[in-house]
Amino acid sequence: MSQANAGNRFRFALTVALFSAMSVPALAQLSEDTAKQAAQELRLLVTEGTGVIGDLQPVINAGKAPKEQVTPDALVSQFKARYQKAAGAALDTKAAGVIGDARRAYVQAFTSVVTRFQGNLTKGGQDAFVPAFFRAQVLKDFNQLMRGKIQGYATNRDSELINGDWAVQKVMKGSPLAADVQGLMAGGSLDPVVKRTGNTVMGYYPMKLAPACVACHAQNGLKQTEGGFGGALVAEIPVK
Ligand code: HEC
Repeated sequence: MSQANAGNRFRFALTVALFSAMSVPALAQLSEDTAKQAAQELRLLVTEGTGVIGDLQPVINAGKAPKEQVTPDALVSQFKARYQKAAGAALDTKAAGVIGDARRAYVQAFTSVVTRFQGNLTKGGQDAFVPAFFRAQVLKDFNQLMRGKIQGYATNRDSELINGDWAVQKVMKGSPLAADVQGLMAGGSLDPVVKRTGNTVMGYYPMKLAPACVACHAQNGLKQTEGGFGGALVAEIPVK
């Protein structure tokens, strides 16, 4: 074998090795335990992230959100503060494994959405930037960044949708969990369900209606009861 050939072969082998090392995280299937932890983490990220926009609803709807309070930097700090309070520990975006991947993807998606919708935030007006709309945009970006390792969905029962785009059959189209989620929502229990079905771990987290949710939804013609079921956040994670 000539020197040149040996060199090419070596480079080829190295390239193959590098590519497989790079693609391992995307392809590696998680253990059931890790997947259940990741589902909980997604719940925490999405709940606290959406809470940042929820807290701002009075000023957004009044068209009075102070500009410096809704810059991407200010909102990301708000998110980190809420996360730390809820988790009892600071958000560690350097963490290894799928949890670290999920945190980085969530922060990236959050930042990108509040940057893109800066105009809605500062101009404001009734329903100019509601939590559910924000959450749906962030989850769309998040799901793309996670490339199938974790998928997150927010939805509600067909009879209580304000925006038909968030129907379970649409947001969970093609998901093996769609029928399960539809059944759980129909039951309307407020208890979370975290379980494995086949090769998928599902984290199902119902949302409870607070007075502000009911009041605002009523303006959109929806009759709901305080303390009742108000939709669900779902995590879907393939496992080995
Ligand atoms: C300021 C008004 C406002 C508040 C406050 C609000 N919502 Fe909504 N919500 C909306 C609007 C408007 C939509 C439709 C969003 C869209 O068009 O994307 C919506 C959509 C939703 C959806 C998606 C399904 C659907 O109906 O389209 C869920 C789930 C939801 N809200 C739950 C809640 C919960 C739970 C709270 C309180 C913790 C809450 N919302 C607070 C206005 C509000």
